[in-house]
Amino acid sequence: MLFSNPILDLIRGRKSVRTYEREPVPPESRQALESFLGSLPGPPFGSAVRLLAVSADPDDPYALKGLGTYGIIRNPAGFIIGAVQPSDDGLFDFGFLMEAACLKLLDLGLGSCWLGGSFRKSRFAGRIGSREGEIVPSVLSFGVPSGKKSWIERVVTAGAGSAARLPFEDLFFDGDFSHPLTAAAAGTAAVALESVRLGPSASNRQPWRIVRDDRDGSFHFFLRMSAAYQRQLKWVGAVNLQAVDMGIAACHFSLAAEATGLKGRWRRVPGPPPSDPDAGLYVVSWSPAE
Ligand SMILES: Cc1cc2nc3c(=O)[nH]c(=O)nc-3n(C[C@H](O)[C@H](O)[C@H](O)COP(=O)(O)O)c2cc1C
Repeated sequence: MLFSNPILDLIRGRKSVRTYEREPVPPESRQALESFLGSLPGPPFGSAVRLLAVSADPDDPYALKGLGTYGIIRNPAGFIIGAVQPSDDGLFDFGFLMEAACLKLLDLGLGSCWLGGSFRKSRFAGRIGSREGEIVPSVLSFGVPSGKKSWIERVVTAGAGSAARLPFEDLFFDGDFSHPLTAAAAGTAAVALESVRLGPSASNRQPWRIVRDDRDGSFHFFLRMSAAYQRQLKWVGAVNLQAVDMGIAACHFSLAAEATGLKGRWRRVPGPPPSDPDAGLYVVSWSPAE
């Protein structure tokens, strides 16, 4: 994936931006975004994820017509809309690729915000032309960041506790879930893990838990689903946004690992990884390249 700025700066500098200037995105940035989306590699589980950028156009007042966000987003210059089949692996892959697009937007000087709930699903699905069985789990709004926040953005960010992140040792473990992993003990993987910690997640729930396997240096990713999201999944048509969060985490881990010289690959390990019944659901592992 091609970024002009150092990827670690992008990961560290990203935060959700919900209020934009009334400015369209310059044509060269639109072009760069489109070619980035067109050149994305296959995601870890190989799902077919379709991503489409739609932008406000000074010559077309209807370019974003109907793409509503219930007032959460002010003056969007565009959206990235994604569609995928609704399996957990599909949602993971969707999160993986959409987050790469989110970092690319920042690379182009644009702010963005993930939207999993606050968007008019049927309108966005219509715009991407969603196919049989596909869903639009989330979209990304984008635009030139405004220095000001709308009152609604202030309310949303206070509610989601946006800046707050769980401590490193509450998220990452050494060997099994009874041994917290400190950044110092994580050694060369500390930056990749910290990059996961800085990632966005639905309602800032940070459901990722990662165990380092001391046998081969793998990192096993678990999803600790929050009770609120578990309840939501019982609703008809509710999307497992925390599966999307796991893909976002894997995207940050991959990019940061690569930037710090760690080579590895995603796989599901055949034997049971070090687990704990309360730990959550095993999702995937990153294993060092042999
Ligand atoms: C899958 C997903 C769905 C999200 N849905 C919404 C949403 O519907 N409305 C919203 O205002 N923010 C949404 N967010 C943004 C999160 O609230 C935000 O990422 C989190 O609070 C952390 O803040 P930060 O992105 O500024 O670091 C979503 C984030 C993710 C990853």
